[in-house]
Amino acid sequence: MPKIPDVLLLFCLVGAADALYKQWIPDTNYENKTNWDKGEVPCGNDIVEFLAQRKVSVFVETTHAVQEMRLPVHGEFILNSGAGFYVMSGQDEGCGPGVTTQFKDSESLQWLNPALWQAATTQDDMQHGNFLFSVHEESVPCNYDDVVFKARSSFRVDTSSSQSSISVKSVSVLGKTFDSKSEFSEYLSSHSGQLQFHGSSAVTVGGPGCGDPSGCDCGNSVNHQQICGTVTCTSLSCKKPLLPVGHCCNVCGAIVTIYYTAGFSLKTYRERIQHLFLSLSKYKSIQLGMSKVLKTQRLMGIIPFGNSPEIQVVILDGDKGTKSAALAKDILKDIRSHGSNLGITEAEFQTSSGGGTESNAGMVVGVVFGVLIMITLIVLVVVLTRKGVVRMPSLPSLPSLSIFKRNSDDGDLNGAADHGFDNPMFDRPNVLPDIPGLYGTENSISLTQTGVHFVNPVYDENETDFTA
Ligand SMILES: *[C@@H]1O[C@H](CO)[C@@H](O)[C@H](O)[C@H]1NC(C)=O
Repeated sequence: MPKIPDVLLLFCLVGAADALYKQWIPDTNYENKTNWDKGEVPCGNDIVEFLAQRKVSVFVETTHAVQEMRLPVHGEFILNSGAGFYVMSGQDEGCGPGVTTQFKDSESLQWLNPALWQAATTQDDMQHGNFLFSVHEESVPCNYDDVVFKARSSFRVDTSSSQSSISVKSVSVLGKTFDSKSEFSEYLSSHSGQLQFHGSSAVTVGGPGCGDPSGCDCGNSVNHQQICGTVTCTSLSCKKPLLPVGHCCNVCGAIVTIYYTAGFSLKTYRERIQHLFLSLSKYKSIQLGMSKVLKTQRLMGIIPFGNSPEIQVVILDGDKGTKSAALAKDILKDIRSHGSNLGITEAEFQTSSGGGTESNAGMVVGVVFGVLIMITLIVLVVVLTRKGVVRMPSLPSLPSLSIFKRNSDDGDLNGAADHGFDNPMFDRPNVLPDIPGLYGTENSISLTQTGVHFVNPVYDENETDFTA
């Protein structure tokens, strides 16, 4: 494919949780008119005012005429070569009557705000505006990302988070890249560093990056609440909105979940999706984010018992998600025929259009089904035990089991003791003689149907059995 379609793909981009560049969008540059309360860079007739009590580091690219300048108590100008200020002797033609213009406060801009970052796979992509789409948690720099504050630019960022530090692979400030922990902490304590970074958490660099070809978990779920606190969700029109892992809002679109094995490369697969599908004109409006996430596994869909890594592909498009569903189906079709070569064991998708879910036939999600099978087995054993088909081995160290066994004893008494207390005097003689052969001391686990709580003194060997 020639270069032009790539440029057109500006908005059909693939995100991945392997090392990305994350660039801070806002700046505190003198020349950026969004930084001035009047919406214009001040000119020669204007009075320029910086809030006295606000710390600020201002980058100045060129030379500016001013009428008067009110400076803050703590602040700095970073002057580009040839940049500076001068006061005009006469009127600045074409500047207007002259107003008092205030430099806006950037105190509240938070590191953990996903809207203030843009992501790209390379610095080159960043410069060309080939930004990636990611879920909210991954829009903020991940542990293994390279953080970029634009060269020829200054900024002020509030790094407060729920953790004592925010760690990333590297940070670039004013064109200099820091990847040594000590060097960067030295920069943070410098005059500029203190004006640019503030807040309760320290940013540390020198993280190992992501060495796993199948991708790495972003690591921002610890800050999920704070990240989502900055996000406003819009109302949706689709039938069954979806909530991607790591996202703050429900979305209309599709989510493809991919289970992988050795040999899966997130980078390769991302490029494959890019070339096979996202370059097609019918998918031009698609936003696609692909990353490794840790999905919470839930017992019976409720009780969380662990995390399992999987590849999440979030597909969004402007309309009600019909294009997303079509792309999800295309991706699954591709996996069905080439999955084994790509290191993909299974894939499934959900759509918000109400079309239901689908997964590629064949292999089974190990963990989930393993657990389901275990539950089924346990239920089966319980039922069979209650019916007297199977007798439970005696495991005296497990109190819950002994309670369970007492219940089954009730059953053996033919409902006679259904209303609560077993009579231990009846209990033992009724049960024990039925299974004399299972009572041997040579077995480390003896198969008995006896209860633990009520030891009949008549049967002493019973007691020794429990303490054995
Ligand atoms: C000016 O600041 C705004 C908001 O912070 C930002 O989106 C924009 O890219 C900046 N302009 C330039 C030319 O950098």
